[in-house]
Amino acid sequence: MTKQFGGRSFDRFGVQLAEYLKKYANLNSQSKVLEIGCGCGRTAYALSRILDDGKFFGMDIEKKSLESCQQNSLFRRKGFRFEYLDVQNDEYNPGGSNPASSYKFPYEDNAYDVIFLVSVFTHMLTDDVKNYITEISRMLRPGGTCMITTFLMDKGKETSGISFPHREKDHYFYNQAMPEVAVGYLSEFYVAQFASHGLKQKHDIVWGSWRNMPEVVSTSGFPQDILFFTKEK
Ligand SMILES: C[S@@+](CC[C@H](N)C(=O)[O-])C[C@H]1O[C@@H](n2cnc3c(N)ncnc32)[C@H](O)[C@@H]1O
Repeated sequence: MTKQFGGRSFDRFGVQLAEYLKKYANLNSQSKVLEIGCGCGRTAYALSRILDDGKFFGMDIEKKSLESCQQNSLFRRKGFRFEYLDVQNDEYNPGGSNPASSYKFPYEDNAYDVIFLVSVFTHMLTDDVKNYITEISRMLRPGGTCMITTFLMDKGKETSGISFPHREKDHYFYNQAMPEVAVGYLSEFYVAQFASHGLKQKHDIVWGSWRNMPEVVSTSGFPQDILFFTKEK
């Protein structure tokens, strides 16, 4: 799990995710982009080579990573903006003041062409994800696209790598003491939640490589599964 964030793969996966955003979310140099859970800016680095000044907004609930983005000279030069938001998560911000299940983002309606979350819903429980999808749908402009990466349970929950034996509401998890360590969902959960706000699935699922199952061929080489949803005009 940690391998995907370090060393050479840090840059490679960032570039790959940026390519998916261009291809399936119509991201271009003028797009106004919001990344929810940007961490230390993995995809933002790749987007700094694509976006014109000041079109990138990143937020996270984990102060250290977010502050490293705020202090980064490349991001400052590009006018990329990063904001810490005080939302609770047992793993990343246990003392956070606001529950993710009812949090209202301090951003306007219909404001962003592209909103994306990489390995964030993999750490969030059912009511939290439902609320975030409501908020994403509100903040995305008509015609805009949301990309998420996730662990989909559609092709099995037990693998030789990570497994998700437990279920509560719509989320599957392996760590009973702290479910937010790794969370999975069925694709139909996402499709239904986005559809309830008028967003349609845009592209076939891009299957990730996390399953470590020879019978499930990854179509990307990226560890997690990737989905796209577009807001109707
Ligand atoms: C595995 S890291 C991925 C970081 C980054 N997206 C990347 O691809 O490198 C998960 C991130 O999700 C963030 N996160 C967890 N719960 C969140 C929430 N409720 N809202 C926003 N971000 C959250 C964490 O703080 C952390 O930065």
